Amino acid sequence: MRCSEIIEKKRNGEILSCKEMEFLIDGYVKGLIPDYQIAAFLMAIYFQGLTEEETIYLTEAMINSGERIDLSSVTGVKADKHSTGGVGDKTTLVLGPLIAAGGIKVAKMSGRGLGHTGGTLDKLESIPGFRTQLSPEEFRENVNKLGIAVVGQTADLVPADKKLYALRDVTATVESVPLIASSIMSKKIAAGADVIVLDVKYGSGAFMKTAEQAKDLADAMVKIGLGLGKKMAALITNMDRPLGYAIGNALEIKEAIDTLKGKGPVDLSDLCLNLAGEIFYLAGKASDFSSGRELARGLLSRGAALDKFREFIAAQGGSKDVVETENLLPQADFRFTVQASVKGWINNMKTRDLGLAAMKLGAGRSTKDDTIDSGVGLVCYKKTGDYVEKGDTLAMIHANDEDQVDEVKKLVLQSYIIKETPPAEKPLIYGIVKESGFEKWSG
Ligand code: URA
Repeated sequence: MRCSEIIEKKRNGEILSCKEMEFLIDGYVKGLIPDYQIAAFLMAIYFQGLTEEETIYLTEAMINSGERIDLSSVTGVKADKHSTGGVGDKTTLVLGPLIAAGGIKVAKMSGRGLGHTGGTLDKLESIPGFRTQLSPEEFRENVNKLGIAVVGQTADLVPADKKLYALRDVTATVESVPLIASSIMSKKIAAGADVIVLDVKYGSGAFMKTAEQAKDLADAMVKIGLGLGKKMAALITNMDRPLGYAIGNALEIKEAIDTLKGKGPVDLSDLCLNLAGEIFYLAGKASDFSSGRELARGLLSRGAALDKFREFIAAQGGSKDVVETENLLPQADFRFTVQASVKGWINNMKTRDLGLAAMKLGAGRSTKDDTIDSGVGLVCYKKTGDYVEKGDTLAMIHANDEDQVDEVKKLVLQSYIIKETPPAEKPLIYGIVKESGFEKWSG
């Protein structure tokens, strides 16, 4: 097989075989094929796309480039949730303990924040003592015993993705549905779950700007998962406003705990209940989605999910007392309010800019090597659809460096688009992609 011939085939819109895809990915990971040939191949995919089968071949070749997590010693149904990334997205912190309390096994590999989006590992590490590095044995033991463990991704999981992503980043080939879908799904499938539920975000704070783009990505990912033997569904959700109110690591932990206590923001609680309902249904714990959601609601209201959160935190070395005593979490030294400069309806929020504002305060990273300040961030008391009077508090800035505050205040204020008329209603959940296809969300 010759590399240039395979590139030429894709460039001309022909369909590649499984062997051809494997040849390229395997050769690239082993250093036998140079960056410049794979860069040309990625650009050919960017313009020509991949068929459903080709996308599955690519995903499999990527999975085979490294280790699969062996969960064979873990009993019961293993489920995973993946969000394509957003601002204030603390869903895993609520959903993980919630479904574990319902008997689902959660063996989760999470990521760190970069740019305007946060990462679950950084949030968890704001809990004093919490360890995100467990040995493979400890990881499996915790999942078996408690039903949940959350760790960082190992270096051996899909090494092809690390090389390909770095190359895509510098060759303008990130924004390709089959490349994004194979990148995400290779890591999810290698992590070993039987049931995978995706939360594909669209809007200002997300990768995909429109619901239609998100639907295409959701569809590609669901097809890959089904093709590789997984139970799959994808919710398509709006990111034109942050999820919940808090943006920033310890602030988000506090909000997740409030949600587990049944006192959380409505949007976050609803999303978690809907994701849990779908997982319970796909895992065979409920006869349909609605009874799955009722099961989740019961676990939340009885405090079973909160108890599971406590056990999970303690098992990974964290102080479970943060549940009762929130000031055990890191807190910023200064608080500043951001006030509305005009009265009217909040028509829109530039969610991405709010994520960047939190990053400037130290809640996120602009490069992979930056360190995180766990206590800082924003709490957006007012969100899209709310009416405000001039002078009302829109948001609170939690900062450790007073010198940053003027710039951040300006950024937050500019992120709120206030008009004289109310905005059109935009539901949090737009639709769902299942094995049977797309359905507009009916609640
Ligand atoms: N996240 C990933 O893991 N891969 C992509 O290609 C895009 C987002």
